[in-house]
Amino acid sequence: MNRRAFLAAGIASLGTAYGLPALKTGPAPSRLSIAQVRRLVVERIDPLTGRCRYVADLGTRQVAQPVLWARRGERFDALVENALPQPTTVHFHGLTLPAAQDGAGFDPIPPGGRKRVRFEVKNRSGLYWFHPHPHGFTAEQVYSGLAGLLVVTDEDDDALDAGLALAQGNRLALAFADIRVEGGVLLPYAPSAEDCLHGWLGNRALANDRLDASWVVAPGWVRLQILNASNARGLLLAFRENEKLFPFHLLGTDGGLLAAPRELERVFLHSAERVDIAIDVSGRRALEAVSLAFDPRHHAHGAAPRHRHPARERYAPLAAAAVCQSTGNDDAGSKVQDRLAEGAELPLFALRVEGAAASLPPLPARLSGLAELSVAPDAPTRRLRLDFDEGTGFLIDQTPYASDETGFGVSRGAREVWEIKNSPISMPHPMHLHGFGFRVLRRQGTYGGARQLASEPGGRFATDLGVKDTVLVWPNETLWLALDFSLPREAAFRGPQRFMFHCHNLEHEDGMMMRNVTVV
Ligand code: C2O
Ligand code: CU
Ligand code: CU
Repeated sequence: MNRRAFLAAGIASLGTAYGLPALKTGPAPSRLSIAQVRRLVVERIDPLTGRCRYVADLGTRQVAQPVLWARRGERFDALVENALPQPTTVHFHGLTLPAAQDGAGFDPIPPGGRKRVRFEVKNRSGLYWFHPHPHGFTAEQVYSGLAGLLVVTDEDDDALDAGLALAQGNRLALAFADIRVEGGVLLPYAPSAEDCLHGWLGNRALANDRLDASWVVAPGWVRLQILNASNARGLLLAFRENEKLFPFHLLGTDGGLLAAPRELERVFLHSAERVDIAIDVSGRRALEAVSLAFDPRHHAHGAAPRHRHPARERYAPLAAAAVCQSTGNDDAGSKVQDRLAEGAELPLFALRVEGAAASLPPLPARLSGLAELSVAPDAPTRRLRLDFDEGTGFLIDQTPYASDETGFGVSRGAREVWEIKNSPISMPHPMHLHGFGFRVLRRQGTYGGARQLASEPGGRFATDLGVKDTVLVWPNETLWLALDFSLPREAAFRGPQRFMFHCHNLEHEDGMMMRNVTVV
């Protein structure tokens, strides 16, 4: 079977239709708890396209590309098995974990290897996710399909669902990613040097591994928890009905629910960011979710950086294609139409509304006890600079990543303000910190197009009101973040803990825009 047949079979059903998988899999139970997972297998299912997937082994059956659920306090204890031809890790993005369980790439699992991963979920309810993090291979593996969702629930989450009187099927957890499709063929990860500088963009959106996805929902409230799992593409998410924008309510962000909902017509969602939203579909027949056109502020041009990872030389790519190789002619082998420009309009998915009208309770006015953050005026400020240099590309404080560095040294329990300034000659960088959620205090220098959405005090967006683990910094923008480096008291967290701070444009991450953060 060739690539064309692969795409024709439909990406959703590729596991069974394609016939290659090592494991037979069945449908997922409605809420697959992380506590049920005995093994998590990471496998490649097609060497032509490089397509990969996660398979959760529950002992009695296997589930491909599982959406995992966890009650706060629940435990994950599973063997992660690497059936890829490359090293991998499983990083649980957004979770508060001891460094040894963080899957950050310090101790990758070699091809054919396995590792026991166990932890307790300590986070607030919200949408988290898991993906590979082996330095130098992260972008390729995530693009190839390795991005799993983890929905965490708690009492606030229960109260919200009850308050919305959600009909069965009206709560969805969704991951978007853009892929490159040419003539009905899914293209493997094969970025040119130019793609490695700006990020690998596709031309079609996958929603939960499906092209042209749509879901049937019942009239009433619909709750959507949405992840942008794209390597590099930022989205300006909106809902449309007959070309008119349809308002929705922001309920939460990366690290859980806001104190109170905010009504919006559009929201930026960059790589690795999440939003939790409610939308009233009563009396509607169909809504279309799109990424609206916007100015992506790509201002950096020039010599592309070199992405030479010593480890890369030792392992084959997932598909038979060269990765980040400069051909001397940047765009050889990659046509412009395969790479819809960032900021171009992109259809995402559709909701079809079917069923009898239900009575609609009012949106709960209070969602959680999350307080506005105040920071002691004497809190130490750490200044970080996001730089662009024609020779080296994008870096944090001019320093390319070195896995053995201490990086930023932080004392346990410290409260700090981080001032992050992006260069004017640059592009947007979604900056992510492992291990700790943070709060956005203030933004300055935001470009006009985005500033229109800065509805909150301090020049902030509505999404800045929540707990974040990934935050976009536009070119020329300065952000002030409040961080609290208290760690839960438990044996596994003793001793120095090494986490990471990096750009979640995955080409930038693999391209060294990453630093360690060591908590002592
Ligand atoms: Cu989502 Cu360091 O990763
Ligand atoms: Cu992370
Ligand atoms: Cu970046």
